[in-house]
Amino acid sequence: MKHLIAPSVLSADFANLQRDVEMINSSEADWFHVDIMDGTFVPNISFGFPVMSAIKKYAQKPLDVHLMIVNPEHYIERFAEAGAAVITVHYEACTHLHRVVQSIRIAGCKAGVALNPHTPVSLLKDILPDLDLVLVMSVNPGFGGQQFIPNTLNKVRELRAMASLLHPDLLIEVDGGVGLHNLEILIQSGANVFVAGNAVFAAASPLDMIADMKNLDAGIMKL
Ligand code: DX5
Ligand code: ZN
Repeated sequence: MKHLIAPSVLSADFANLQRDVEMINSSEADWFHVDIMDGTFVPNISFGFPVMSAIKKYAQKPLDVHLMIVNPEHYIERFAEAGAAVITVHYEACTHLHRVVQSIRIAGCKAGVALNPHTPVSLLKDILPDLDLVLVMSVNPGFGGQQFIPNTLNKVRELRAMASLLHPDLLIEVDGGVGLHNLEILIQSGANVFVAGNAVFAAASPLDMIADMKNLDAGIMKL
């Protein structure tokens, strides 16, 4: 499949949120990436339901909601009601991950699990068939504009190899420090969904940057 681009709203201008949402609508982007941070799971607070509903009001593409919160199981239904198409919870935040994943699917959303940079992909072996997406964090979660951690490439390769046996359609999303400089190698490693905050919103032309990322041709997938 052609890779997907998910601009991260965290890097948008919140005083001009409608304008930035409409920019993404009119771009070649596939999803809106929506980062929810609670100040406990990560050392930062982003926004909650009122802002997410404001995004949903104008967004014409699926909302890819990344929950960087403790006890995500308490909020699955509300995020689904607020318009999430994909809900991703952190492996590190869920004692009963299988139950949380089930509840995401029952709520009618695609289910994703995110891994912090130190969490091995092998821990997902038994839950992989139940997931739609794995989000590999390529920075420590909490902030936009950080530098990509190179070991992410090894994790993506290992995960794609595991998925080729257990779940060939698995979406592998990479989040943090992604841009034109590392997109090709990430695609070749087996990832197919790319979050981009700073790369898009700090670009001279966000529309052109999204188009360049979307249309990058990484050649034959070397899996
Ligand atoms: C970080 C967030 C990311 C962030 C990415 O905790 O999960 O989605 O917005 O921003 P960039 O692309 O600037 O690293
Ligand atoms: Zn994110």
